[in-house]
Amino acid sequence: MAFVTDPITINKTVLKNRITFAPTVKFDYAGEDGKATSKHIEHYKERAMGGAGLIVVEATAVTPGGRFGKNHMGLWEDSQIPGQREITEACHEYDTPVIIQLNHVGVGANPECGPAIGPSEHTNWHGTVARAMTICEIKDMERSFVDAALRAKDAGYDGIQLHGCHGYLINQFVTKNVNKRDDEYGGSVENRARFGANIIRDIRKECGDDFLISIRTVGADPDLEDCILVAEEYVKAGCDYLQVSHGMGEIAKASDFATDKYNTICALGVKFHEHFKGRVPVSCVNSLFTPDDIKYLIENDLCDTVDLARAILADPAFPKAVLEGGEYTPCFKCKACQYGPFTAHKCPAAFKRGVVQ
Ligand SMILES: Cc1cc2nc3c(=O)[nH]c(=O)nc-3n(C[C@H](O)[C@H](O)[C@H](O)COP(=O)(O)O)c2cc1C
Repeated sequence: MAFVTDPITINKTVLKNRITFAPTVKFDYAGEDGKATSKHIEHYKERAMGGAGLIVVEATAVTPGGRFGKNHMGLWEDSQIPGQREITEACHEYDTPVIIQLNHVGVGANPECGPAIGPSEHTNWHGTVARAMTICEIKDMERSFVDAALRAKDAGYDGIQLHGCHGYLINQFVTKNVNKRDDEYGGSVENRARFGANIIRDIRKECGDDFLISIRTVGADPDLEDCILVAEEYVKAGCDYLQVSHGMGEIAKASDFATDKYNTICALGVKFHEHFKGRVPVSCVNSLFTPDDIKYLIENDLCDTVDLARAILADPAFPKAVLEGGEYTPCFKCKACQYGPFTAHKCPAAFKRGVVQ
Protein backbone atom coordinates (compact mmCIF):
# COMPACT_ATOMS: atom_id res chain seq x y z
CA MET A 1 0.00 0.00 0.00
CA ALA A 2 1.30 3.48 -0.83
CA PHE A 3 0.99 6.47 1.49
CA VAL A 4 0.67 10.13 0.60
CA THR A 5 4.03 10.72 2.32
CA ASP A 6 5.80 8.19 0.05
CA PRO A 7 8.16 9.60 -2.55
CA ILE A 8 7.75 8.69 -6.20
CA THR A 9 10.31 8.92 -8.98
CA ILE A 10 9.00 10.02 -12.37
CA ASN A 11 11.64 9.64 -15.04
CA LYS A 12 14.65 10.89 -13.00
CA THR A 13 12.71 13.44 -10.95
CA VAL A 14 12.00 12.55 -7.33
CA LEU A 15 8.75 13.88 -5.87
CA LYS A 16 9.06 13.78 -2.08
CA ASN A 17 5.36 12.96 -1.65
CA ARG A 18 2.22 12.27 -3.70
CA ILE A 19 0.71 15.77 -3.67
CA THR A 20 1.13 18.03 -6.69
CA PHE A 21 0.11 21.66 -7.06
CA ALA A 22 -2.07 21.86 -10.17
CA PRO A 23 -1.52 24.55 -12.81
CA THR A 24 -3.58 27.65 -12.01
CA VAL A 25 -3.21 30.68 -14.21
CA LYS A 26 -3.00 34.16 -12.64
CA PHE A 27 -4.67 36.44 -15.15
CA ASP A 28 -3.53 39.67 -13.57
CA TYR A 29 0.06 38.87 -12.56
CA ALA A 30 1.88 39.18 -15.92
CA GLY A 31 2.34 42.28 -18.04
CA GLU A 32 1.90 42.40 -21.83
CA ASP A 33 5.51 41.23 -22.27
CA GLY A 34 4.49 37.81 -20.91
CA LYS A 35 7.33 37.81 -18.37
CA ALA A 36 7.01 36.28 -14.92
CA THR A 37 6.73 38.95 -12.24
CA SER A 38 7.70 39.10 -8.57
CA LYS A 39 4.09 38.13 -7.78
CA HIS A 40 4.54 34.84 -9.65
CA ILE A 41 7.84 34.17 -7.94
CA GLU A 42 6.42 34.79 -4.44
CA HIS A 43 3.33 32.76 -5.25
CA TYR A 44 5.27 29.65 -6.30
CA LYS A 45 7.86 30.04 -3.55
CA GLU A 46 5.08 30.02 -0.96
CA ARG A 47 3.62 26.84 -2.48
CA ALA A 48 7.04 25.14 -2.56
CA MET A 49 7.48 26.00 1.14
CA GLY A 50 4.02 24.55 1.75
CA GLY A 51 5.21 21.02 1.09
CA ALA A 52 3.82 19.99 -2.33
CA GLY A 53 5.85 17.20 -3.95
CA LEU A 54 5.69 18.87 -7.37
CA ILE A 55 4.72 22.32 -8.57
CA VAL A 56 3.15 22.64 -11.99
CA VAL A 57 3.42 26.27 -13.07
CA GLU A 58 0.34 27.64 -14.78
CA ALA A 59 -0.66 27.50 -18.47
CA THR A 60 2.00 29.52 -20.29
CA ALA A 61 1.60 30.60 -23.89
CA VAL A 62 3.96 29.28 -26.56
CA THR A 63 3.14 32.15 -28.95
CA PRO A 64 1.69 35.64 -28.28
CA GLY A 65 -1.49 34.58 -30.11
CA GLY A 66 -1.88 31.59 -27.78
CA ARG A 67 -2.49 33.70 -24.66
CA PHE A 68 -5.79 33.84 -22.78
CA GLY A 69 -5.46 37.61 -22.76
CA LYS A 70 -2.86 40.35 -22.80
CA ASN A 71 -1.81 39.81 -19.17
CA HIS A 72 -0.74 36.21 -19.52
CA MET A 73 2.65 34.60 -19.06
CA GLY A 74 4.54 33.31 -22.09
CA LEU A 75 7.68 31.45 -23.14
CA TRP A 76 7.73 32.47 -26.78
CA GLU A 77 11.01 34.39 -26.60
CA ASP A 78 14.33 34.18 -24.78
CA SER A 79 13.80 37.43 -22.85
CA GLN A 80 11.16 35.52 -20.85
CA ILE A 81 13.69 32.98 -19.54
CA PRO A 82 15.26 34.99 -16.64
CA GLY A 83 11.90 35.55 -14.86
CA GLN A 84 11.11 31.85 -15.22
CA ARG A 85 14.54 31.02 -13.80
CA GLU A 86 13.60 32.93 -10.64
CA ILE A 87 10.54 30.70 -10.26
CA THR A 88 12.55 27.49 -10.62
CA GLU A 89 15.23 28.72 -8.21
CA ALA A 90 12.59 29.65 -5.64
CA CYS A 91 11.07 26.15 -5.83
CA HIS A 92 14.39 24.30 -5.86
CA GLU A 93 15.46 26.22 -2.76
CA TYR A 94 12.79 24.14 -0.97
CA ASP A 95 13.81 20.92 -2.71
CA THR A 96 10.65 20.96 -4.77
CA PRO A 97 10.74 19.93 -8.41
CA VAL A 98 8.89 22.22 -10.78
CA ILE A 99 7.53 21.85 -14.30
CA ILE A 100 5.67 24.38 -16.45
CA GLN A 101 2.48 23.89 -18.43
CA LEU A 102 2.73 24.94 -22.09
CA ASN A 103 -0.38 26.00 -23.95
CA HIS A 104 -2.04 27.60 -26.95
CA VAL A 105 -5.73 28.48 -26.78
CA GLY A 106 -6.34 27.58 -30.46
CA VAL A 107 -9.88 28.15 -31.71
CA GLY A 108 -10.68 30.26 -28.65
CA ALA A 109 -7.86 32.76 -29.21
CA ASN A 110 -8.47 36.17 -27.69
CA PRO A 111 -8.88 38.60 -30.62
CA GLU A 112 -6.66 41.10 -28.77
CA CYS A 113 -3.78 38.60 -28.93
CA GLY A 114 -4.04 36.83 -32.27
CA PRO A 115 -6.20 35.03 -34.81
CA ALA A 116 -8.46 32.16 -33.77
CA ILE A 117 -7.01 29.05 -35.40
CA GLY A 118 -7.45 25.36 -34.85
CA PRO A 119 -7.58 21.97 -36.51
CA SER A 120 -10.76 22.92 -38.42
CA GLU A 121 -13.08 25.85 -38.92
CA HIS A 122 -15.04 26.22 -35.69
CA THR A 123 -17.27 28.80 -34.04
CA ASN A 124 -15.58 29.59 -30.78
CA TRP A 125 -16.83 30.72 -27.38
CA HIS A 126 -16.28 34.40 -28.37
CA GLY A 127 -18.77 33.80 -31.21
CA THR A 128 -16.18 34.21 -33.97
CA VAL A 129 -15.29 31.59 -36.55
CA ALA A 130 -11.83 30.11 -36.08
CA ARG A 131 -9.92 29.19 -39.23
CA ALA A 132 -8.43 25.75 -39.99
CA MET A 133 -4.64 25.66 -39.74
CA THR A 134 -2.61 24.68 -42.79
CA ILE A 135 -0.13 21.79 -42.47
CA CYS A 136 2.65 24.36 -42.51
CA GLU A 137 1.04 26.27 -39.60
CA ILE A 138 0.60 23.03 -37.65
CA LYS A 139 4.32 22.21 -38.09
CA ASP A 140 5.25 25.76 -37.02
CA MET A 141 3.03 25.44 -33.95
CA GLU A 142 4.62 22.10 -33.00
CA ARG A 143 7.96 23.91 -33.27
CA SER A 144 6.72 26.72 -30.99
CA PHE A 145 5.88 24.18 -28.27
CA VAL A 146 9.32 22.54 -28.60
CA ASP A 147 11.11 25.92 -28.52
CA ALA A 148 9.16 26.87 -25.39
CA ALA A 149 10.21 23.56 -23.79
CA LEU A 150 13.85 24.30 -24.63
CA ARG A 151 13.48 27.70 -22.96
CA ALA A 152 11.87 26.02 -19.94
CA LYS A 153 14.87 23.69 -19.70
CA ASP A 154 17.21 26.66 -19.93
CA ALA A 155 15.26 28.33 -17.11
CA GLY A 156 15.92 25.33 -14.86
CA TYR A 157 12.60 23.49 -15.07
CA ASP A 158 12.72 19.76 -14.31
CA GLY A 159 10.32 19.22 -17.18
CA ILE A 160 7.22 20.50 -18.88
CA GLN A 161 3.56 19.67 -19.03
CA LEU A 162 1.55 20.01 -22.23
CA HIS A 163 -1.93 21.42 -21.71
CA GLY A 164 -3.90 18.72 -23.46
CA CYS A 165 -7.34 19.23 -21.87
CA HIS A 166 -9.96 21.88 -20.99
CA GLY A 167 -10.69 22.59 -24.67
CA TYR A 168 -7.39 24.19 -25.73
CA LEU A 169 -5.42 23.49 -28.90
CA ILE A 170 -4.01 20.02 -28.15
CA ASN A 171 -7.43 18.94 -26.87
CA GLN A 172 -9.04 20.46 -30.00
CA PHE A 173 -6.98 18.14 -32.20
CA VAL A 174 -8.12 15.14 -30.14
CA THR A 175 -11.85 15.87 -30.09
CA LYS A 176 -13.93 14.97 -33.12
CA ASN A 177 -16.28 17.86 -32.21
CA VAL A 178 -13.62 20.30 -33.42
CA ASN A 179 -11.23 18.23 -35.53
CA LYS A 180 -12.91 17.49 -38.88
CA ARG A 181 -9.66 17.09 -40.85
CA ASP A 182 -9.21 14.33 -43.39
CA ASP A 183 -5.41 14.49 -43.58
CA GLU A 184 -2.82 12.90 -41.27
CA TYR A 185 -4.03 15.10 -38.36
CA GLY A 186 -7.68 13.97 -38.44
CA GLY A 187 -9.84 10.86 -38.28
CA SER A 188 -8.17 7.93 -36.51
CA VAL A 189 -6.93 8.03 -32.91
CA GLU A 190 -3.35 8.00 -34.16
CA ASN A 191 -4.03 11.00 -36.40
CA ARG A 192 -5.92 13.04 -33.80
CA ALA A 193 -3.14 12.39 -31.26
CA ARG A 194 -0.43 13.24 -33.80
CA PHE A 195 -0.15 16.95 -32.91
CA GLY A 196 0.51 16.25 -29.21
CA ALA A 197 2.60 13.16 -29.93
CA ASN A 198 4.85 14.99 -32.42
CA ILE A 199 5.48 17.70 -29.83
CA ILE A 200 6.33 15.11 -27.16
CA ARG A 201 8.65 13.19 -29.51
CA ASP A 202 10.56 16.33 -30.49
CA ILE A 203 10.82 17.59 -26.91
CA ARG A 204 12.20 14.21 -25.88
CA LYS A 205 14.75 14.36 -28.73
CA GLU A 206 15.83 17.95 -28.04
CA CYS A 207 15.52 18.25 -24.25
CA GLY A 208 17.04 14.85 -23.47
CA ASP A 209 16.10 11.56 -21.82
CA ASP A 210 16.05 12.94 -18.25
CA PHE A 211 13.65 15.81 -18.93
CA LEU A 212 10.27 15.06 -17.37
CA ILE A 213 7.51 15.22 -19.98
CA SER A 214 3.95 15.24 -18.74
CA ILE A 215 0.66 15.89 -20.44
CA ARG A 216 -2.52 17.00 -18.73
CA THR A 217 -4.70 15.00 -21.01
CA VAL A 218 -8.40 14.76 -21.61
CA GLY A 219 -10.19 11.86 -19.89
CA ALA A 220 -13.42 11.74 -21.90
CA ASP A 221 -13.88 13.68 -25.11
CA PRO A 222 -16.07 12.05 -26.29
CA ASP A 223 -15.38 8.93 -24.22
CA LEU A 224 -12.88 7.28 -21.91
CA GLU A 225 -11.85 4.50 -24.29
CA ASP A 226 -10.90 6.92 -27.09
CA CYS A 227 -8.95 9.13 -24.68
CA ILE A 228 -6.99 6.20 -23.23
CA LEU A 229 -5.93 5.27 -26.77
CA VAL A 230 -4.89 8.88 -27.39
CA ALA A 231 -2.82 8.77 -24.20
CA GLU A 232 -1.20 5.54 -25.41
CA GLU A 233 0.05 7.52 -28.42
CA TYR A 234 1.52 10.15 -26.08
CA VAL A 235 3.24 7.44 -24.04
CA LYS A 236 4.66 5.82 -27.18
CA ALA A 237 6.07 9.23 -28.13
CA GLY A 238 7.91 9.53 -24.79
CA CYS A 239 5.49 10.97 -22.22
CA ASP A 240 6.48 10.10 -18.61
CA TYR A 241 3.47 11.21 -16.61
CA LEU A 242 -0.25 11.58 -17.26
CA GLN A 243 -2.44 14.01 -15.41
CA VAL A 244 -6.07 13.52 -16.34
CA SER A 245 -8.80 16.16 -16.47
CA HIS A 246 -11.86 17.00 -18.55
CA GLY A 247 -12.24 18.09 -22.16
CA MET A 248 -14.69 20.38 -23.91
CA GLY A 249 -17.62 19.72 -21.63
CA GLU A 250 -18.59 16.19 -22.72
CA ILE A 251 -18.10 14.07 -19.61
CA ALA A 252 -21.59 12.65 -19.27
CA LYS A 253 -20.61 9.16 -20.34
CA ALA A 254 -18.02 8.99 -17.59
CA SER A 255 -20.48 9.85 -14.83
CA ASP A 256 -21.00 6.16 -14.07
CA PHE A 257 -17.49 6.05 -12.62
CA ALA A 258 -18.03 8.64 -9.88
CA THR A 259 -18.43 7.36 -6.31
CA ASP A 260 -19.36 8.97 -3.02
CA LYS A 261 -15.59 9.46 -2.45
CA TYR A 262 -14.67 11.24 -5.69
CA ASN A 263 -16.39 12.97 -8.59
CA THR A 264 -16.64 12.23 -12.32
CA ILE A 265 -13.54 14.12 -13.39
CA CYS A 266 -11.41 12.57 -10.69
CA ALA A 267 -12.87 9.18 -11.68
CA LEU A 268 -11.39 9.56 -15.16
CA GLY A 269 -7.93 9.63 -13.57
CA VAL A 270 -8.80 6.51 -11.57
CA LYS A 271 -9.76 4.73 -14.80
CA PHE A 272 -6.54 5.85 -16.50
CA HIS A 273 -4.56 4.56 -13.51
CA GLU A 274 -6.26 1.15 -13.80
CA HIS A 275 -5.15 1.04 -17.42
CA PHE A 276 -1.58 2.43 -17.08
CA LYS A 277 -0.72 0.94 -13.66
CA GLY A 278 2.95 -0.08 -13.41
CA ARG A 279 3.80 1.59 -16.73
CA VAL A 280 3.08 5.32 -16.44
CA PRO A 281 2.20 7.29 -13.29
CA VAL A 282 -1.25 8.87 -13.37
CA SER A 283 -2.63 11.79 -11.40
CA CYS A 284 -6.24 12.54 -10.43
CA VAL A 285 -7.69 16.01 -10.00
CA ASN A 286 -10.88 17.79 -9.03
CA SER A 287 -12.64 18.74 -5.84
CA LEU A 288 -10.20 17.10 -3.43
CA PHE A 289 -10.41 19.35 -0.41
CA THR A 290 -9.61 17.32 2.72
CA PRO A 291 -6.74 15.13 3.92
CA ASP A 292 -9.15 12.19 3.91
CA ASP A 293 -10.09 12.75 0.22
CA ILE A 294 -6.43 12.55 -0.71
CA LYS A 295 -5.38 9.67 1.51
CA TYR A 296 -8.31 7.60 0.27
CA LEU A 297 -7.13 7.81 -3.35
CA ILE A 298 -3.47 7.05 -2.62
CA GLU A 299 -3.92 4.40 0.06
CA ASN A 300 -6.41 2.49 -2.10
CA ASP A 301 -4.06 2.59 -5.09
CA LEU A 302 -6.57 4.56 -7.18
CA CYS A 303 -3.89 6.86 -8.61
CA ASP A 304 -0.16 7.59 -8.19
CA THR A 305 -0.42 11.30 -7.30
CA VAL A 306 -3.20 13.74 -6.43
CA ASP A 307 -3.31 17.11 -8.07
CA LEU A 308 -4.74 20.01 -6.05
CA ALA A 309 -5.62 23.49 -7.26
CA ARG A 310 -8.07 25.39 -5.05
CA ALA A 311 -7.05 23.71 -1.77
CA ILE A 312 -3.46 24.95 -2.28
CA LEU A 313 -4.55 28.35 -3.60
CA ALA A 314 -6.53 28.80 -0.38
CA ASP A 315 -3.68 27.59 1.82
CA PRO A 316 -0.21 26.95 0.37
CA ALA A 317 0.62 24.88 3.46
CA PHE A 318 -2.32 22.53 2.89
CA PRO A 319 0.09 19.75 1.73
CA LYS A 320 1.97 20.00 5.06
CA ALA A 321 -1.33 19.63 6.92
CA VAL A 322 -2.11 16.49 4.89
CA LEU A 323 1.38 15.04 5.36
CA GLU A 324 1.96 15.92 9.00
CA GLY A 325 -1.50 16.68 10.40
CA GLY A 326 -2.50 20.04 11.82
CA GLU A 327 -4.62 23.03 10.99
CA TYR A 328 -5.23 24.53 7.56
CA THR A 329 -7.47 27.17 6.02
CA PRO A 330 -9.99 25.31 3.87
CA CYS A 331 -11.03 26.44 0.41
CA PHE A 332 -14.45 28.13 0.58
CA LYS A 333 -15.35 26.63 -2.85
CA CYS A 334 -16.59 30.09 -3.91
CA LYS A 335 -14.65 30.05 -7.23
CA ALA A 336 -13.62 33.69 -6.75
CA CYS A 337 -10.15 32.54 -7.87
CA GLN A 338 -11.60 31.63 -11.26
CA TYR A 339 -14.41 34.09 -11.82
CA GLY A 340 -13.86 37.20 -9.76
CA PRO A 341 -15.90 39.06 -8.46
CA PHE A 342 -13.43 41.92 -9.06
CA THR A 343 -10.31 40.59 -10.73
CA ALA A 344 -9.32 37.01 -11.25
CA HIS A 345 -7.43 35.09 -8.61
CA LYS A 346 -8.77 36.63 -5.46
CA CYS A 347 -9.17 34.08 -2.73
CA PRO A 348 -11.20 34.96 0.36
CA ALA A 349 -9.64 32.04 2.25
CA ALA A 350 -6.22 33.58 1.61
CA PHE A 351 -7.53 36.98 2.73
CA LYS A 352 -8.64 35.30 5.92
CA ARG A 353 -5.02 34.22 6.45
CA GLY A 354 -4.01 37.87 6.01
CA VAL A 355 -2.54 37.51 2.52
CA VAL A 356 -2.97 40.51 0.22
CA GLN A 357 -3.03 39.24 -3.37
C1 LIG B 1 -7.72 30.04 -10.65
C2 LIG B 1 -7.62 28.81 -11.48
C3 LIG B 1 -6.78 28.78 -12.58
C4 LIG B 1 -6.63 27.60 -13.33
N1 LIG B 1 -5.71 27.58 -14.34
C5 LIG B 1 -5.44 26.38 -14.95
C6 LIG B 1 -4.35 26.27 -15.84
O1 LIG B 1 -3.57 27.21 -16.04
N2 LIG B 1 -4.16 25.08 -16.44
C7 LIG B 1 -4.95 23.98 -16.19
O2 LIG B 1 -4.72 22.91 -16.75
N3 LIG B 1 -5.97 24.06 -15.31
C8 LIG B 1 -6.21 25.21 -14.68
N4 LIG B 1 -7.18 25.28 -13.72
C9 LIG B 1 -7.89 24.06 -13.34
C10 LIG B 1 -7.20 23.43 -12.12
O3 LIG B 1 -5.87 23.06 -12.39
C11 LIG B 1 -7.96 22.20 -11.61
O4 LIG B 1 -8.01 21.23 -12.62
C12 LIG B 1 -9.38 22.55 -11.17
O5 LIG B 1 -9.40 23.73 -10.41
C13 LIG B 1 -9.97 21.41 -10.33
O6 LIG B 1 -9.14 21.14 -9.23
P1 LIG B 1 -9.50 21.65 -7.74
O7 LIG B 1 -10.87 21.10 -7.45
O8 LIG B 1 -8.42 21.05 -6.88
O9 LIG B 1 -9.50 23.13 -7.76
C14 LIG B 1 -7.37 26.45 -12.98
C15 LIG B 1 -8.25 26.49 -11.88
C16 LIG B 1 -8.36 27.63 -11.12
C17 LIG B 1 -9.24 27.61 -9.92
